Amino acid sequence: MSETLVLVEREPDGKIATVLLNRPDRLNALNAPLMTELAAALTELDAENDVRCIVLGGSGRAFAAGADIAEMAEASVMDMYAARRVDRWDAIRAVRTPLVAAVSGFCLGGGCELAMSCDLIVASETAQFGQPETTLGLLPGAGGTQRLTHAVGKALAMDMILSGRRLSAREALAAGLVARVVAREAWLDEAKALARQIAAKGPVANRLAKEAVDRAFDAPLTVGLEYERRALYLAFASEDAREGMRAFLEKRAPEFEGR
Ligand code: CAA
Repeated sequence: MSETLVLVEREPDGKIATVLLNRPDRLNALNAPLMTELAAALTELDAENDVRCIVLGGSGRAFAAGADIAEMAEASVMDMYAARRVDRWDAIRAVRTPLVAAVSGFCLGGGCELAMSCDLIVASETAQFGQPETTLGLLPGAGGTQRLTHAVGKALAMDMILSGRRLSAREALAAGLVARVVAREAWLDEAKALARQIAAKGPVANRLAKEAVDRAFDAPLTVGLEYERRALYLAFASEDAREGMRAFLEKRAPEFEGR
């Protein structure tokens, strides 16, 4: 691991990469340099065919406590606009490799939005989720009003965004925001174990499946169903699908090439 704002670690077989936000003294507040490094690291890993799943986690007491308030307090609206902050978020959204957020501790504001930008969230039992931006006179600006509402429904999203209510990991699980709650001391190991399960599946199919699931949020059912059908045809044409079905019939583990 290198000493930067973002630590990248690869497992020996190369199939799983772990990316850790590394600004623990500021609870991993998402300043511009960190977001730039994060977007670059994820884009680079995404381009590697060997990487089948990426785990994104925090360090210290937080996943991330949101955008960097000190940085924002000094910025003019034109600074915000010129810094093209959204480009970094778009780069994260464009990652095709399955992305698992491993959340321990504070997951607030932009931190919660970052976790929700991943494909699924594994939360330690100490995790706390919230969108406290209105406390600062701001509001979520990286997808929070949309993704949180899709995940937990209007009543709870309004409660969290308007009152600053935080959800515990168990509440977040019950509300549908997180997929799994795990023991505090095992949060990262459990997320990696899940990543290994995901990495063992057909990589082309996984990428197409995540795109199809995402389509459920921005398209009517008929359009989403049509998208899913075409994604299946595409997966069917892959060498991975041949290998996966052949391996099943030959009673052996598949050896996917990601093609
Ligand atoms: N930005 C910059 N610095 C932050 C930060 C943030 N979002 N969150 C924490 N820090 C810093 C603190 O200022 C503190 O620094 P010092 O040691 O120099 O004082 C250090 O991290 C540790 O934090 P605390 O001492 O505050 O720790 P705590 O345990 O007492 O409280 C907390 C933890 C409740 C998470 C509190 O830090 C907090 O409320 N943080 C801000 C959360 C927030 O409002 N996030 C939303 C930001 S806006 C956004 O994300 C969306 C957008 O784009 C508009």
